[in-house]
Amino acid sequence: MKKILITGGAGFIGSHVVRRFVNNYPDYMIVNLDKLTYAGNLANLTDIEDKPNYRFVKADITEASVINELFNKENFDAVIHLAAESHVDRSIADPTAFVMTNVIGTVNLLNAAREYWKGSYDKKRFYHVSTDEVYGALGETGMFTESTSYDPHSPYSASKAASDHFVRAYHDTYGLDIVVSNCSNNYGSHHFPEKLIPLAINNIKNAQPVPVYGKGENVRDWLWVEDHARAIDVIFHQAKTGQTYNIGGHNEWKNIDLIHLLCKIMDNKLGRTEGESAKLITFVTDRAGHDLRYAIDSTKLQNELNWVPSLQFEEGLEKTVEWYLENEGWLSDVTSGNYQAYYENQYEGR
Ligand code: NAD
Ligand code: DAU
Repeated sequence: MKKILITGGAGFIGSHVVRRFVNNYPDYMIVNLDKLTYAGNLANLTDIEDKPNYRFVKADITEASVINELFNKENFDAVIHLAAESHVDRSIADPTAFVMTNVIGTVNLLNAAREYWKGSYDKKRFYHVSTDEVYGALGETGMFTESTSYDPHSPYSASKAASDHFVRAYHDTYGLDIVVSNCSNNYGSHHFPEKLIPLAINNIKNAQPVPVYGKGENVRDWLWVEDHARAIDVIFHQAKTGQTYNIGGHNEWKNIDLIHLLCKIMDNKLGRTEGESAKLITFVTDRAGHDLRYAIDSTKLQNELNWVPSLQFEEGLEKTVEWYLENEGWLSDVTSGNYQAYYENQYEGR
């Protein structure tokens, strides 16, 4: 049996990774460690929470003694590290939490792995999940490859870049088995409605203004979250030690074009006349230091590990809209803050 620590498993991408590993690998024990910040929601995992190969631990990766104690007790075979502060706008408002969780938290996990895995580094694996934002911003052309120099601009991307460097430094210096992946923008179910797509879905549904930063000309490369989880699975199991893989959808959209497509889908699903939802689009002050364009070249992952995205964006976006409309309870619990009681109701005292 493999015992795998997945950090940040109550968040958006983490919950998809946890679900995939729990369902696909019944011989693995999956331990989901999460602090349950505003972004952590155990209701994301109701379908697997009672499986015998799943366990939840509420903990904060910035607390080194807690992490060390857990490693001492559990004898993990691997870590898949997703826990992070993830929202760029929040990092602009208050960078400190990003340094604490994304940098110090990652170093705490690395230190625990280094200490408790001593003598067996070749049998253990530390997988660090990162972002394409570490590469900075592109102009109208070009793509990020694994050899693009780091050039982060926001406090969020600076903190993720620092964590990537620490992970690689522990490989080069101490010989820890590490892999890193840098992924583009994810979308899909269970996405916290502060990020563009779920925020726009929620606002369109409620006939509220849809804020588009600047002129909406910034470009993002969108990937179906379950394709990201599958990429993590493939890389975790097949990548050689020390490797980095870029993960992306080859699916670039200007924000304003994406919002128009979303409005069209929502008009259709909500029985509104075409063009009604688009009236909600409201151009607002641009994000400070807003990166113009991201585009990921994931040729290495496709050629070496045979991974390709599975869904066309139009299909994925429609499925995403359907999920939010069918899961009104999830959305209203998140927007009202009720979801934070889920832990007390379901887990405390277990
Ligand atoms: P998210 O904000 O939805 O989830 C983050 C999770 O980490 C939450 O459950 C939160 O409670 C937990 N967490 C935060 N601080 C913690 C701490 N100190 N200790 C323990 N747990 C803590 O984020 P996400 O969008 O799912 O992103 C997950 C990872 O993937 C992050 O590392 C992010 O940088 C990376 N990433 C995200 C995207 C994207 O499009 N969302 C793209 C590429 C990479
Ligand atoms: O590229 C990967 C990154 O994608 C991840 O590392 C981050 O964790 C994730 O949050 C995401 O970052 P972005 O800043 O690209 O995502 P966000 O959804 O916040 O914004 C997407 C684009 O939409 C961006 O150009 C800013 C713009 N935007 C965003 C919001 C929230 C708006 O125009 N209006 C909005 O209200």
